[in-house]
Amino acid sequence: MIQTASMVLRSGTKLLTAAIGDSAARDARILMAHTLGVPTDRLTVELSRMLTPQQVAQFEHTIHRRAAHTPISHITGKRAFWKHEFRVTPDVLDPRPETETLVELALQGPKLNTVLDLGTGSGCILLSLLADLPEVRGTGTDISEAALKIAAQNADSIGVADRATLQISNWFSALSGQFDLIVSNPPYITEAEMTALAPDVRDHEPHLALTPGGDGLSAYRTIARDLAKFLAPQGRAFFEIGKDQGPEVQEIFAATGIGPVTVHADLGGHARIVAVNA
Ligand SMILES: C[S@@+](CC[C@H](N)C(=O)[O-])C[C@H]1O[C@@H](n2cnc3c(N)ncnc32)[C@H](O)[C@@H]1O
Repeated sequence: MIQTASMVLRSGTKLLTAAIGDSAARDARILMAHTLGVPTDRLTVELSRMLTPQQVAQFEHTIHRRAAHTPISHITGKRAFWKHEFRVTPDVLDPRPETETLVELALQGPKLNTVLDLGTGSGCILLSLLADLPEVRGTGTDISEAALKIAAQNADSIGVADRATLQISNWFSALSGQFDLIVSNPPYITEAEMTALAPDVRDHEPHLALTPGGDGLSAYRTIARDLAKFLAPQGRAFFEIGKDQGPEVQEIFAATGIGPVTVHADLGGHARIVAVNA
């Protein structure tokens, strides 16, 4: 039987709604656009297309993977973040919209020459900054070699590889020198919160990227210990935090005595960024 994209999309959406509920219609559209090889915002005008049996099979396969809670970005292999599309695999955290708040804040400020991103993952923060700041050179570190390989591919595709150094390091341990801007979205989910996470996240994203265990604050404590040594005079640092961690993380960085520490909210009004000014 010949089927249009619209007919196949309708049955896929129904199946997905039963499995994952709310986001089913949006996700099914993304998967159909992926099957057709068109941008999602062009899908509506493509829905009258006849699908080949291979396209129907491919779409149904992606619907079954999504119904089993595989994140959309792992099925399509990409995620839009800030102004670019990033390659995403199970080796890296799926870039989150709230992390764009950190990029936005980090871009406001005096001219700078160097940036350091601790725990760079896909490279979404570092590479977005380098793309918007063409004079700046950057270093991205991670403890995961597999993540750094993905960051390197993203640096190439975004066109900033000549200004990005990607280095394996346990936070600051393999680094030397000072940086005008230091940014990090470290793992911060508490051990207790891990059990309550949605299966899309808990069972598919790297554990190392999600939680440092315990109270979720150990990465901030380790980074705070060496921040003064690596932050240049008049430098600035920005850290993403969990939405209830503002007072504790502010206290951790205030105790270093480096300079004023402030907490900033994301677009939803939740405290999500701690900033330190040297
Ligand atoms: C929450 S993810 C953030 C990834 C990316 N920066 C983003 O915002 O999407 C935290 C990252 O820190 C890395 N990481 C975890 N422990 C680390 C450590 N001890 N030293 C360096 N990086 C670490 C993880 O591998 C992961 O890539």
